[in-house]
Amino acid sequence: MSGAVVREERQRPPAEELHAAELAQLAARDGAAPRPAGWRLTPRSVLAFVRGDAELGVAPKYVGSRAFVERCVVALATDRGLMLVGEPGTAKSLLSELLAAAISGDSTLTIQGSAATTEDAIAYSWNYALLLAEGPSARALVPAPLHRGMSAGAIVRFEEITRCAIEVQDALLGILSERALAIPELDGDARTLFARRGFNVIATANTRDRGVNEMSAALKRRFSFETVLPIADPQAELELVEREADRRLAVADVPLRTAPELTQALVTACRELRAGRTEDGAALEPLSSAMSTAEVVSVCFAACAQAHWFGAGEVTADHVVTQLAATAAKDDPADVLRLRHYLRRATDGHAGDAWHALDAAAEQLAGP
Ligand SMILES: Nc1ncnc2c1ncn2[C@@H]1O[C@H](COP(=O)(O)OP(=O)(O)O)[C@@H](O)[C@H]1O
Ligand SMILES: [Mg+2]
Repeated sequence: MSGAVVREERQRPPAEELHAAELAQLAARDGAAPRPAGWRLTPRSVLAFVRGDAELGVAPKYVGSRAFVERCVVALATDRGLMLVGEPGTAKSLLSELLAAAISGDSTLTIQGSAATTEDAIAYSWNYALLLAEGPSARALVPAPLHRGMSAGAIVRFEEITRCAIEVQDALLGILSERALAIPELDGDARTLFARRGFNVIATANTRDRGVNEMSAALKRRFSFETVLPIADPQAELELVEREADRRLAVADVPLRTAPELTQALVTACRELRAGRTEDGAALEPLSSAMSTAEVVSVCFAACAQAHWFGAGEVTADHVVTQLAATAAKDDPADVLRLRHYLRRATDGHAGDAWHALDAAAEQLAGP
């Protein structure tokens, strides 16, 4: 077993493992139908996998317009990379994972961008013991995700690319335009690794990190940019939050769930705070925190877990408000006061017991 974690014990299996049955079913259905070279599935099946398709029995996953996902799929079939740009928590990472799983059957060729990311970590490095013993050789080369993706003809994910130094980002230039990686240390044919068909790059970037502007113009030209927006439809967001919280709570063996009216009020509150206006158009003091869908799911999950481990058998508005305040506080402590202010007035425009409970719970948040 050599230290490998048994499959059932993995905290979070990659998408291609989690949805292996759906991928196999779609591949069987595609048969020998034409598709871009190197792809496991046809573009139509990639779309069905990513968004879900009730007729085909494929579970919903990424919530977003069909036209948007189609554009992403098309971009990956061209000679440019795909750049997903958006606020934190809009499912950029999820979407890139689903696309890689559907197109290449592998979403794990992933580079996590940070200020500490080096060229070694994205393209290749060396096994120094072998390098010293034998000099540079194919055997001594340690491939990083780009090298592996180019050799295999697979999608490589580059997360948070704008957090990397510009020089590291620019290492992608030649790869995306020439579709080849120079390895000057090796001799003969081995000096150039030509990408196999099917290789492409999906990068993600947060609009809250400075950076997309600083990316070199040359690199920008090699990507198709797509902006990932928060979920437009309130009902779709509510369903996603319930589905996703439910899935995570089941994994965590927590049997409690928030009452539907409370979940609905939570989702509405976060949508209004995110938009800086109420559903009937009144302006609100906006929060610095994004209050993203991902955060709503986390609030729901944590409130249920807290109620389960420490409560009296029911998820209350107090549990929700405590978790909501913790989310709001992480970017700017003043957001807690803005949240309190919002919740204390929200009963004006919203009817129902859940809003009154949130109002009462908000009273305990530290306020003036
Ligand atoms: N449009 C969406 N479709 C599906 N899930 C979403 C959507 N928006 C947010 N989520 C939720 O947010 C979670 C985290 O999103 P993530 O991919 O990490 O966001 P990002 O990379 O944009 O910060 C997802 O796993 C999902 O639970
Ligand atoms: Mg992300």
